[in-house]
Formats: sequence, structure tokens, C-alpha cells
Amino acid sequence: MGALARALLSTLLGFLLTPTPGALGANPGLVARITDKGLDYAAREGLVVLQSELREITLPDFTGDFKIKFAGRGHYEFHSLDIHACELRGSALKPLADGGLSLSIADSFIQVQGRWKVRKSFVKLQGSFDLHVKSITISVKLLLGSEPSGRPTVTTSSCSSHIRDVGVDISGDLEWLLNLFHNQIESKFRRELETKICEMVKESVTSDLQPYLQTLPVIAEIDSMAGVDYSLMEAPRATAQMLDVMFKGEIFHLNHRSSVACLAPALSLPEDHDRMVYFAISDYVFNTASLVYHQAGYLNFSVTDDMIPPDSTIRLTTKFFRAFAPQIGRLYPNMNLELRGAVVQAPLLNFSPGKLSLAPQLEMEAVVLLPNSVKEPVFRLSVATNVSATLAFNTSKITGFLNPGKVQVELKESKVGVFNVEMLEALLNYYIGETLYPKVNDKLAKGFPLPLLRRIQLHDLVLQIHKDFLFLGANVQYMRV
Ligand SMILES: *[C@@H]1O[C@H](CO)[C@@H](O)[C@H](O)[C@H]1NC(C)=O
Ligand SMILES: *[C@@H]1O[C@H](CO)[C@@H](O)[C@H](O)[C@H]1NC(C)=O
Ligand SMILES: *[C@@H]1O[C@H](CO)[C@@H](O)[C@H](O)[C@H]1NC(C)=O
Repeated sequence: MGALARALLSTLLGFLLTPTPGALGANPGLVARITDKGLDYAAREGLVVLQSELREITLPDFTGDFKIKFAGRGHYEFHSLDIHACELRGSALKPLADGGLSLSIADSFIQVQGRWKVRKSFVKLQGSFDLHVKSITISVKLLLGSEPSGRPTVTTSSCSSHIRDVGVDISGDLEWLLNLFHNQIESKFRRELETKICEMVKESVTSDLQPYLQTLPVIAEIDSMAGVDYSLMEAPRATAQMLDVMFKGEIFHLNHRSSVACLAPALSLPEDHDRMVYFAISDYVFNTASLVYHQAGYLNFSVTDDMIPPDSTIRLTTKFFRAFAPQIGRLYPNMNLELRGAVVQAPLLNFSPGKLSLAPQLEMEAVVLLPNSVKEPVFRLSVATNVSATLAFNTSKITGFLNPGKVQVELKESKVGVFNVEMLEALLNYYIGETLYPKVNDKLAKGFPLPLLRRIQLHDLVLQIHKDFLFLGANVQYMRV
């Protein structure tokens, strides 16, 4: 790919990739904001998991002796308790002032089936029973953090569960047995189930939620040369209605990562909360990409005669140039030329409301390819162009498209006399429009990932372009397995 193409590509790549720098106290390159709608959605999905795990809880047998008026003395056993239905409802997930999250579940119920046995002198009775555990409330506090590796962490800091009401149906409709249950078993059963619910919640946070959060791609490869660092810069920050996650968002050279010479701007996010999640992607992300690709020479390119279509009237030969710069034909008869270009400085992507653009400045040198393989410099050009970029999204990726602008060519220095560069402008416009942009746009159409957890897809995307950052809003769908 040509240098200009690469320059353009890198600029787009950069900002598409969403990474940033990470010195202490630095601003994040990318902020993911989860709104109250997003937290509600997360809570509902969490309930689905808890509900299925709740059904796996094993409950103990309850046995003992009794002495009841009219029924006399005996031994009871309530056994084979099995949760056969449960419904968790009324969940809410709210940020806490101390940075954690509070999950509350209200108004849930569980149905338990089991068997009972009673022995009274020589009489043995047995049957089945159903328990209706109603008005269950669960209240959990979660602490969010980040590991030194930049991965998010979550732990349960407290859990309490309360059961208000247990109804029982016993086969045989034995009044004294119902009373026995309410007097001797119900409160033990409640305590047992309340404890089990919190044990189950803690286990689920450790074994399901924490590994799930760690599916965040902290380092993602962009291509064989560059990677993007999505590590968390600090623990997620809770504010009144939302949770902000600060990502480093830095693009770096995979083989030799060096410290980045630019700073991320402070981002002041709009108050929007129509969508479940918003991503603020700072221009820092783009700038780090631009620097990396520029330093690696990706923004250098060359055009030779064999790259020009055979039917073109413009040729990169000294014979063709003779018409404009007669000296070149005289000094170097029947030789080919090569145009070598480099982007002067890593180009910056300009964010202005509603618009993305870049204006790479190129320097080009024309060399004559002498028969002894020596390349003889003959003139230098400066090339300016304006490029605008369009963005699109699908469920997990951002894709880009560059709209070519015309190039303006200026002759800076010549060893073969001053000449009109209009036809070189035409040649470069042709090369850029036909070769460079299609290549870059093909690559940009492949898309670049956002820092998303596994099985998350984005829908209903909206994009705003602010002064220093892109602001992308979306609703989320978790693809259950
Ligand atoms: C790119 O081209 C410029 C100008 O010709 C040159 O100075 C620079 O060393 C090149 N960079 C790389 C990495 O090849
Ligand atoms: C690029 O845009 C600027 C500002 O609109 C303009 O002054 C300049 O001439 C443009 N350059 C090219 C190469 O079109
Ligand atoms: C999103 O775009 C990428 C790149 O074009 C493509 O590979 C992926 O299949 C697309 N996903 C959907 C769901 O269309």
C-alpha cells in the first residue's frame, strides 16, 4: 500500500481503534459510560443467570422428634427438598456513592417440592408437600475494581436475603402436620434458604461475573504491526445514574512499545442517557495510531510507471516529461522516473461538530532510475490534500470510509528547470482515486472492534462528533448461549 494510503489509513485506524495513553494522572483515551438503562438491562440478564443457579441449590432434610396434643409423640422427616420453580423479579442495579453497585431483587418466589415421613409408635405415614416461598428480597453490594493488568474485577462486599412468607400444602391435609411444619421447621428452613441464596449469589459473582468481566479484550491486535491497549486506568467510577469505565485507549507498536509523545484531552461527556451505553473516543486514540504508523514508515510510498494504466497518456518516463521540462529528456534520455512520497508529520484527525477530516502534508521526490540502478533526484514537490471521513457501525465494530479530496501539488525544488506540475496533479489524483482510496477503504470496511465483553452486540447506534472526541451511543444485546 502507498504511503498516502497508509497515512490515511492510519489516521482512520487510529481513531477507529479507540485506545489511549496511560501515564499516571493522564486522561483516558476512551470512556465507556453505562447508563441507568444499561444497568437495568445488566440486572435483568443477571437475574436470568441467578435464577437458573437458584434451581441448583440443594436443601437439607429437616428431621426431629415431636410431641403434640392429640397426635402424641413421634419422629418426623421432611426430605428430598427440590426447588422446581423460581422467579426472580423486581431487580434494580444502582451505582453507590462509594463506587460500588447495589443489586436489589424484590418480590420473588420459589416453589419447593419434597416428601415427608412420620413415625408414631408402630404407625408410619408418608406423603409429599409443596412449599411456596414468597416475597423473597435479596440485597447485594458489589465492589468494582481493576487489576494491575488493567482487567476489571468484581467482588461481593455484602449480601442479605429475606423471606417474608412460606406457605405449605401437605398431601393428606393433616392439620397437626401443617402446624408441626410452621412451629418447628419453617424458621429453620427460611434461615437455611436465606443463607443458601447469599452463598449462591457470592459463588455466581466469583465464578460467572468475574470471569465474564475478564473477557474484556485488554490488548487487541490491529494488524501485524500495531495493537490497541484497552486496559482500565482505574476502578469504574459510579455517579448518580451511571457507571463510567476509563480505558487507556492507546495504539502501540507490537514489537517495540514506546511511551507516547502526546496527551489525551480531558473529556466532558454530554448528559445523554437515551441509550444503554455510550463510548467517548478521544482524538488521542487517533493521534497515537498516527504516530505509530508514521514512525514505522507506513506513511511512505512510491509510484512507478508500471503502476499507471497502459492506456494512460501520462507516463513516468523522461520521454514524457521532456514536453514540460526539456532538460530532463536531454540529461536522462529514455529512462523511468519514480515518485517517492512521505507524509511530513503524523497527520492529526480533526474533529469538528458533525465532521471528521484530515489534511496530510506530503513531500514527494522524483528520482530518475539510472541504468546502473542509481536513483538520481531531479525535483521535489509538496502535496496537500483534504480528506473527509465517514463512519458506520454494525453490531460490534466501527467501519470507516474516506472521501477523497483533490490534491494540490507545488514544485519546491528542481534540478531540471521550473515546469508546470498540473499533469502531476492529474496523475496523483488518478493514482489516489483509483488505487489508494479503494485499498484503504477496503481495509476500513473490515472494521475495528470496541472494547466489548464477550457476546455483547450493539444496536440502535447514534454518533455525535464533538470537538475532541466521538460520542457513540448504543443499546446492548447480550447473546445468551
Ligand atoms: C520515510 O520517508 C522519509 C522521506 O523520504 C524518510 O526520511 C524516512 O526515513 C522514511 N521513513 C521510514 C521509516 O522509512
Ligand atoms: C483544504 O481546506 C482548507 C480549508 O478549507 C483550504 O484552505 C485548502 O485550500 C484545502 N486544500 C486542498 C488541497 O484542497
Ligand atoms: C460487522 O462488520 C464486520 C466487518 O465488515 C463483519 O465481519 C461482521 O460480520 C459484521 N457483523 C454483522 C453482524 O453484520
